[in-house]
Parts: sequence; structure tokens; C-alpha cells
Amino acid sequence: MKITIVGTGFVGVVSAAVYASFGHTVFGLDVDEKKVEMLKQAQVPFFEPGLSELLQEQQSKGTLFFTTNYQESISQCEIIVIAVGTPSSSQGKVDLKYVYNAIESMAPYLQENTIVVLKSTVPPGTADTVIASIKAKSSVNFHVASMPEFLKEGSAVTDTLHPDRVVIGTDDTSVFAKLSELHQPMQAPIVQTSIASAQMAKYAANAYLATRITFINEIADLCETNGADIQEVITAIGYDKRIGSHYWYPGVGYGGSCFPKDVKELVAYSQSVNYMDSLLARVNSINDTRVYRILEKLEKSMAGFQQKKIAVLGLAFKPNTDDMREAPSTKVVPYLLEKGAIIKGYDPKALETAKQVLPQHENLTYTSSIEEAIHDADLIIALIEWQEIISYPFANQVATLPIHFFDARNQFNKNALQNAGYIYKGVGR
Ligand code: UDX
Repeated sequence: MKITIVGTGFVGVVSAAVYASFGHTVFGLDVDEKKVEMLKQAQVPFFEPGLSELLQEQQSKGTLFFTTNYQESISQCEIIVIAVGTPSSSQGKVDLKYVYNAIESMAPYLQENTIVVLKSTVPPGTADTVIASIKAKSSVNFHVASMPEFLKEGSAVTDTLHPDRVVIGTDDTSVFAKLSELHQPMQAPIVQTSIASAQMAKYAANAYLATRITFINEIADLCETNGADIQEVITAIGYDKRIGSHYWYPGVGYGGSCFPKDVKELVAYSQSVNYMDSLLARVNSINDTRVYRILEKLEKSMAGFQQKKIAVLGLAFKPNTDDMREAPSTKVVPYLLEKGAIIKGYDPKALETAKQVLPQHENLTYTSSIEEAIHDADLIIALIEWQEIISYPFANQVATLPIHFFDARNQFNKNALQNAGYIYKGVGR
């Protein structure tokens, strides 16, 4: 098959490389010339394990191309996948301008019976306006389908090659057959739904996971008021098969490019259909303020942050990525600076991003190792569970005591750290 993926962001690049690896001819199309030039050299503008290698392999096989030329790519493809960004606008409502720009730019070059697949996360109802926009610029027969993306950053290549399921939103049998065939090599269950159901499934999956995390965070906070240990509670309830203990570590709140945005969008969507008293509105507001409540407690426990030397370990929003969108560090670092702390930041991959994203301040410096960051620290914050951070032998490295240790992801052995003299603080334990 010949496929164009419009948008070479995270989802677009990974999808393009994976479809090419199945033997299809794939064009990755973007308006950003600089990005396209980089991708042609298999240089990925972000860190994602295994992606650069896959790009290189597929480009050298001659099945994967990157271009800025709509006419060249669209006019020879039978499937067009729209994978442009859908950022939140004010009030959390999704901003679809990139989707409509892409649709208007490609519509004049569509061939007869092309399938236009919406992979960008868009609210139900968007397909109707997309169809109208295409019809305004093209007189060919075409189909619109929805195929939401469920990959996680940091494991995007594996998630795309081996998804838990593929959701294909279409009522048309021939479209379903074609898109099923495209995904056969993944050997995953294929779920056929209507377009609206596919789009709701994407929002529902993210909103459920965000709610699950917010729920366990709240139970963790309650544990702190009565001496219970959240990790023991999770183990105890996890044996219930209806609950399970997977994907359920408490922390400072969820972040990243999807959960905060998609929850806000679903809240805005609920309000647009007059459903004002939404559970998700609470999930959103609890998560937005969670990290500040935790920092306030920490601040009290060490008599303020003024002039305290603090090592912040883990600046990305999660391990195995350099993405800092809605990363806890983007709230933690400005808060600590505001309170007069002297910060050394460390991350295995996100240091360059951090220099762009975090405020420039005389009290904020970056180090190239954990050792340097924690040297002389009054407080160590292990913010993100990078393997390098959680396997670091903190308990063997104590020089001057007492040092406060905030284990923001409950990754460390509390007793071992306490025995080594740290003043340990986890989440809900
Ligand atoms: C998420 C979804 O998992 C994925 O299906 C969707 O396509 C995009 O959004 P991603 O944002 O890459 O993927 O990361 P994920 O690993 O799911 O983590 C999201 C956030 O939740 C992170 O801030 C993470 O630290 C947090 N989290 C996750 C928790 O706080 N506790 C958990 O148990 C799991």
C-alpha cells in the first residue's frame, strides 16, 4: 500500500516508520522543512528508544520518505493518515487548526476512493466537519475513518508494533477490510467501531487512566493521615482481579502530552453538551494543584526552602523521554526558586530541553551526573523513576547528614534510606 502520514510529530514519525517496516511505501509529510531535513538523515528531534534506528533501516530500504510536498505524496497514496497535533486552547478546548490546515492542503490532491484516517485526537463530531472541508476542495469519492493512537512515550516503537488492540472507526466494510489488512502484522485484536465511538474510546482510555492515578494519589494522601502504607494497600487490593495493581503507582500527579490535555478536552466537551458536573473536572483540578500541596508539606517539614540546596533528579515528564510537556519539574523547579532554594537539576536525557523550558535563574544550574547534583544537598528530590536514578546507591553515598530525601514515585527502600540517615519522605507512606 502507499500511505501518507501528515504530521511528523511523535505519533506521525513512529507510525510512518512502523508502516514502512511492514513493507508499505510511506511518506511522512510536514510543513516544517527543517524537521523534514533532519528526518531524512534519520535524526529524530526528540529522544525515543529505537526510533532513529528504525527510521534509518526503513529509509535505507527505500520504503520510507519524508517530504514537504503535498502534491507529490498525496496524489499517489490510497491511505492518508492525519497525525498532526491537537493542542489545548484556552478553557481546555481542543484547537483543531492543524487538522483543518492539513485537510485543506491535501484535499485538492486526493485520488478517487482514498481513505482519510484521523489519528490525531479529536472530539466526536470532527469527522463531519472534516468531510465538509474535503468536499469544499475536492470532487472525488473518498472515505473518512478514525484510528486513535494509544502508544506511550518512551516505549512508542514497541507499543506501535505490539498494541493491545487496534481500533478502527468506520461503518464501511471495504474501508474496514483495507485498514485491517494494514494492521495484520501487528497480530493484535482489531475492534471495529463507529467513528464517534473510536474517538470516544481514545478520550475514555486516557480519562480512565488519569482518574485511576488520581484515585490512588488520593488514597495515598489519606494513608499519610493514619500511618497506613500505600504500597501495602496497593498490594492488598491488587489481588482483586477487578482492580489489579498494574499502572498504579502514586506520585505527584500525572503529566505528559496526553493525559492533562485529553482530560481537559473531555471536560470542555462535557460542558459543551451541558454536562457541567463532570467527575473529570475534579480529576483535572485535583491533579493541577497536587504537586503544590506536596511541596507545601515538604517545605514545612524542613523549615522552609530559603537557601536550601536541593537536587532535583528527573526533569522529563517520565523516564525514557526528553519530553517535558506537563512534567512535574516544570512546577517543582519554579516553586522552589520562588521560595529561595538553590537548585541543581539532573536528567539523563532532558537537560537540553530543560534549559529551554525551565526559567533561567542564578539559583538554577544543571549537572551532568547524579553525584554532582546531590553533592552537599539538603534535600534530594527523586522526581522521575529513570532507571539510572532508582538504581543509584544513595544509601552508600551519604557524606553530610541530615539530608532530606523525597521519593516522589515510591521507588526506594524506605528502611534502607532511613537506616543510612536520610529523612525519608515518600508518597502515602
Ligand atoms: C499516555 C497513555 O498511556 C497512552 O495510551 C496515550 O496514547 C498517551 O498518553 P504517555 O503520556 O506517554 O501515554 O505516558 P504514561 O506512561 O501513560 O504516563 C502518563 C503520566 O501518568 C505520567 O506523568 C506518569 O508519570 C503518570 N503515571 C502513570 C502515574 O503517575 N502513575 C501511574 O501508575 C502511571
